[in-house]
Amino acid sequence: MHSELLNWFYQNKRNLPWRRGRTPYRVWVSEIMLQQTQVNTVIPYYKKWIKKYPTLKSFKESNFDDVIKIWEGLGYYSRCHNMFNAAKLINSTFPNNYDDLINLPGIGDYTAKTILAIAFKKNFVGIDTNLERIGYRILGLKTKTKRNKKRVVEYLEKNQCANNPGDYNEALMDLGSSLCKASITYCNQCPLKKICKAYTSSSPILYPTPKVPKKIPIYDIAVSVVEYQNKILITRRQNKNFLPGLWEFPGGKIEKNETATQAIIREVKEETNLTVSNPIFLGNITHKYSHFGVNISFFISFPKSIKSFNSSQEYRWIRIKNILNYPLPKANHKMLDILKKLD
Ligand code: ADE
Repeated sequence: MHSELLNWFYQNKRNLPWRRGRTPYRVWVSEIMLQQTQVNTVIPYYKKWIKKYPTLKSFKESNFDDVIKIWEGLGYYSRCHNMFNAAKLINSTFPNNYDDLINLPGIGDYTAKTILAIAFKKNFVGIDTNLERIGYRILGLKTKTKRNKKRVVEYLEKNQCANNPGDYNEALMDLGSSLCKASITYCNQCPLKKICKAYTSSSPILYPTPKVPKKIPIYDIAVSVVEYQNKILITRRQNKNFLPGLWEFPGGKIEKNETATQAIIREVKEETNLTVSNPIFLGNITHKYSHFGVNISFFISFPKSIKSFNSSQEYRWIRIKNILNYPLPKANHKMLDILKKLD
C-alpha cells in the first residue's frame, strides 16, 4: 500500500512552508511549533521565525528576548524556553539519532521520531492523533485501550515505508487532516480503503468510538444521493417537530441486524419505489443536533430506470449545482463536502 498512499500524497499534499527548504533544524522548529497547535496557526509564526533565524547557527546566536517576542501569541511558552536551551546544547550539527534527540529539552518520543523520519529519512514513525486514528480504522479497532494503542503502534511501525519514511509519515498526517478526519470521512477518495477494516463497516467514524460527552441518543442512519441522468433527487421533510420544511436526500434509520447498504436499498425503495442495486459508499459523517446525534453512512446510487418512481413527499430532481437554493439540514452540508471531493 506504500505506493498508493505516496502517490496520493504527491498529488494532494498540503503546501506548507516547512516543507520547503528543509533542514533538520527547520524540521525541529516546525515540529515544536506544531505540538498542541493547529497547522494554520503555526504558519505565520514559522515564517517569521525562519526569516529571522534561517539556520541553527543564527538561532544559537540569538538572545532570548527576541526569540520570545516571535513566539508571542503562539501559547505554551515553555516550548520556546526549551528550544532556546536546546540550541545551546546542540553543537554545530543537529543530532541525528534517537538518544541524543530525546535528551534535548522539549523533545519527547513523538517529536524525536518525527524528526528522524522527516529530516533524516530514518525508519521511525511519529504517531500523532491523526496517525493513531488511521491505525485504529485500518485495523478495525473500536475501543480505545492501551492494548489497542499498542497494536496500532506496532502496525504503523511495521508498515512504515523504509525507503521513504518522512513522506510516508507526512502522507498519513495529511490523510488524517483531509480524508480520514475524526468526525467526517471521505472514504471513496482514500488510497487505503482496500486495506481498511473500518471502511468495510460503512461507519468508520466509530473506529475508535468517540467519547460522547452528554447522554444523548445517537441514531445510525443511511442516506443516499440518488442520481439519474445527471440529476439528483431531493425530498422535503414533513416532520413538523424537527427540521420542518428542509430538503434532504432519501434515507433513514438503520434497523438492528441490517447493514448500512441493506438499509439504504430498503429506504430508497420505501420512499421512492426505486430499486437501487449497488449503492456506493462515499463516506461517514457525525453531527449533533440539540437532543440527539446522527451517525450517517453516506452513499450514492444510480437507479437503472425511474419509471417506477413514486413519492408521497414533495420532491425535485435537480442539478447538483443548484442544491444551495434549497434549505438543508446542517448534516447535509457535510454531505455536500463529500460530494465536492468526487469531481
Ligand atoms: N503536524 C505535525 N507535524 C506535521 C507536518 N510535518 N506536516 C503537517 N502537519 C503536521
